[in-house]
Amino acid sequence: MSEPRKILVTSALPYANGSIHLGHMLEYIQTDMWVRFQKHRGHQCTYVCADDAHGSAIMLRAEKEGITPEQLIANVQAEHSADFADFLVDFDNFHSTHAEENRELSSQIYLKLRDAGHIATRSITQYFDPEKQMFLADRFIKGTCPKCGTEDQYGDNCEKCGATYAPTDLKDPKSAISGATPVLKDSQHFFFKLPDFQQMLQTWTRSGTLQDAVANKIAEWLDVGLQQWDISRDAPYFGFEIPDEPGKYFYVWLDAPIGYMASFKNLCARRPELDFDAYWAKDSSAELYHFIGKDIVNFHALFWPAMLEGAGYRKPTGINVHGYLTVNGQKMSKSRGTFIKARTYLDHLSPEYLRYYYASKLGRGVDDLDLNLEDFVQKVNSDLVGKVVNIASRCAGFIHKGNAGVLVDTNAAPELTEAFLAAAPSIADAYEARDFARAMREIMGLADRANAWIADKAPWSLNKQEGKQEEVQAICATGVNLFRQLVIFLKPVLPLLAADAEAFLNVAPLTWNDHATLLANHQLNEFKPLMTRIDPVKVQAMTDASKEDLAASQTDTGSAAPQGNGELAKDPLSAEIEFDAFAAVDLRVALILKAEAVEGADKLLRLTLDIGDEQRNVFSGIKSAYPDPAKLEGRLTMMIANLKPRKMRFGISEGMVMAAGPGGAEIYLLSPDSGAKPGQRIK
Ligand code: MSP
Ligand code: ZN
Repeated sequence: MSEPRKILVTSALPYANGSIHLGHMLEYIQTDMWVRFQKHRGHQCTYVCADDAHGSAIMLRAEKEGITPEQLIANVQAEHSADFADFLVDFDNFHSTHAEENRELSSQIYLKLRDAGHIATRSITQYFDPEKQMFLADRFIKGTCPKCGTEDQYGDNCEKCGATYAPTDLKDPKSAISGATPVLKDSQHFFFKLPDFQQMLQTWTRSGTLQDAVANKIAEWLDVGLQQWDISRDAPYFGFEIPDEPGKYFYVWLDAPIGYMASFKNLCARRPELDFDAYWAKDSSAELYHFIGKDIVNFHALFWPAMLEGAGYRKPTGINVHGYLTVNGQKMSKSRGTFIKARTYLDHLSPEYLRYYYASKLGRGVDDLDLNLEDFVQKVNSDLVGKVVNIASRCAGFIHKGNAGVLVDTNAAPELTEAFLAAAPSIADAYEARDFARAMREIMGLADRANAWIADKAPWSLNKQEGKQEEVQAICATGVNLFRQLVIFLKPVLPLLAADAEAFLNVAPLTWNDHATLLANHQLNEFKPLMTRIDPVKVQAMTDASKEDLAASQTDTGSAAPQGNGELAKDPLSAEIEFDAFAAVDLRVALILKAEAVEGADKLLRLTLDIGDEQRNVFSGIKSAYPDPAKLEGRLTMMIANLKPRKMRFGISEGMVMAAGPGGAEIYLLSPDSGAKPGQRIK
């Protein structure tokens, strides 16, 4: 092979204010498979990432939880790292943007841009929350749509009529944080002069760095002309203070991509073979790829290369954009149980099932990818268990019984082994081009041929015949060698299966080039089942548990964490409703007849409630506050009696009881004063 390449790869830095879900995992798995492929081929490939720890959303959430932002991001980083490790996403480094390396690099890049004349300042007028004493991002302001008059719309667009506007256009604006009426206030902001880089970007975005669909989208933006980009935020803000500008902070998206460099720099300090400058200097011969989702293209394909250029660094070799994950053909939905957290998946299923399924559907385009749960079960069972693992399990027994586990030196299918060898370059090309779907199709095509050949030879029949022992051994040795070749091809996708296969094959860790050789006169180890079929019951349990997460978070004000950058999820509690909507809610006094823990659920209690004319079974996420649930029996509380019944893993929940508290483990049932009787409606 030619010279090893030096390749630096990143995935987008996940926000440090929420859990990783299967949508995120699409990106990290895609990147990890590509990185593993490069390492498998012997290149110096380094994969870095970090938590994206800055911004007002993180500051506000920490405040709400009563902890410091530093504590919050440390907790989240531990959670994220465990999720990634358990999905076999093998970062060389997983750092944080709230780190010293990032502070230094961000300051340095900003100062270079400033000294080269690429920073402008001017005063802008913005809404300011007089109670919280902070400027409000668009998403933190709510009011009446200036166009259609719908109330309770966010400061940048109307969900009803789709109008986009400036927050100052909203009628009757309110701070979504404190409810106060915001006032207009001036403040000095810092801008990155993106138009200085128009020419460079026009060329760079058309130089093979982007997929065509992405380049076309970017061209639309370039055609209308670029605007200066506001890179500062006023205190209070959780981030880095801008050098020489006390009270002014870098906007989170300024230091987030610099976090890629910072994570790499942090790694270089531990890995002498890695040289920061060799990867980031303007004349670097190393390759640099960023894997991202389609929602953050402008930051990576416009702002970031311009920043790098302006500060004298190299630009990315490629920005690899993927589409969004849907589940069962629809946007992930909490109520359908398809908003699946990484941890919830891992509680029920093996990571390699999902890695393979994503691989089998991931092309090089930006199309959305659908995780169809039925297809998922069917495909994994048929391809991995039915085709790949089947080859080894069909052959291993005969070798152990008939030849003490030693592979003989006869190739019973030279043409087939030759075909496997000949397929390797095309499979490698598919991986290189991130066309994992094609790679998987070609590999499964080979597996089909191997299975058909073994079925045709039928060693299980031959084995019963006199004098056919040698032939049986030759067939099975060949089968095991074909299996070994498949494992080599699949290793970037299925590293655990590969490790187990290596143990069975009694070989050192396999690399790509090993596919060109065969094992002969070789002692095998005991064969243990390499992979089991997915039981659809487990998939159901996973979606049920996802609904349970939702039930728990509905009575848990603390963990309904807003996701995203400076954006609060629409808060249902502060939205005004019409009287009719309120009147439609059947609120009742309920007597708790029975309260018990639910086996297998961390947060749930099962309550049997008397609401006058009937009894109800309700699951409620209040277990942590009531370690001795029986004490609740005989007590009155309030429930919503006409909530649509919800099917959960443990049964059907027929309503919802009312509880309140700061969140986490503290969540307490509400009770009526004496005099109220079970079944009475609350008015
Ligand atoms: N913090 C920013 C990225 C900064 S990079 C310098 C961010 N974080 S995120 O947590 O919202 O998203 C992380 C990555 O996951 C992004 O590339 C995003 O596109 C991807 N995805 C988030 N939800 C997704 C799906 N439902 N489907 C596929 N990818 C998704 O953006
Ligand atoms: Zn409107």
